[in-house]
Amino acid sequence: MKKNILITGTSTGVGYEATLLFAKNDFKVYATMRNLDKSTPLKEAIAAENLDIELLPLDVSDNETILKAVNTILEKDGKIDFLLNNAGAGFAKTLEQSTLEEIDWVTDVNYTGVVRTTKAVLPHMREARSGHIINVTSVGGLIGQPFNEAYCAAKFAVEGFTEALATYVSKAFNVKFSMVEPGGISTEFMTNAVSKTANDKGEFVTGEYAPIFQKYLEGA
Ligand SMILES: NC(=O)c1ccc[n+]([C@@H]2O[C@H](COP(=O)([O-])OP(=O)(O)OC[C@H]3O[C@@H](n4cnc5c(N)ncnc54)[C@H](OP(=O)(O)O)[C@@H]3O)[C@@H](O)[C@H]2O)c1
Repeated sequence: MKKNILITGTSTGVGYEATLLFAKNDFKVYATMRNLDKSTPLKEAIAAENLDIELLPLDVSDNETILKAVNTILEKDGKIDFLLNNAGAGFAKTLEQSTLEEIDWVTDVNYTGVVRTTKAVLPHMREARSGHIINVTSVGGLIGQPFNEAYCAAKFAVEGFTEALATYVSKAFNVKFSMVEPGGISTEFMTNAVSKTANDKGEFVTGEYAPIFQKYLEGA
């Protein structure tokens, strides 16, 4: 039987490309996204190349959708070999100018979402004594970056979460953990981050912080 992989956030960017790459390398891919209306490009690629990819709805902020997707995969294949926690969202704003609701949202999508999917998949990998969980963090999960405190904190949290699990779960139950820590990649990421954070004048850093941000953009 082919190895299978559950990937989150496959509508665009890294998740979309990873879906195609795994499928072309003989994986059965469960490509999940929170809004299947965005699946047209992936559906066209599947049809064009006859790839073994199944689309499922999954919102990393909604545990019910995660459990449903995991159960669907287990009913079909009886196992999940790989989980690629890719879904994430950028956010650039100062702490003072962010609302607590925005910070909760950034933390939820980038960190708690990884916790939810891992919690749903791990029992099955443990019982199978086999599995591999790959978490996409960021260079911002290794080094704090200006105007990015909420996002960096969430990605640092994923780093700690992953490292801690790996210290005892891997040896005991043969479930491996990896992290991918990208620098800048040309995807919809920045556009989405700006549209989420900018005010109606297109600014996302204002007041006394604005000249500091400007200098940062200029590399000064
Ligand atoms: N691009 C970069 O420069 C960069 C650098 C370092 C790390 N990363 C990380 O790489 C990963 C992929 O980012 P990308 O560059 O491919 O960005 P992207 O093109 O914006 O893709 C992000 C994906 O996450 C999905 N997503 C957002 N919220 C979700 C939710 N609640 N549930 C499920 N899916 C959700 C998006 O779906 P929708 O289309 O529905 O919004 C989209 O499919 C992220 O974890 C990001 O933090 C990116």
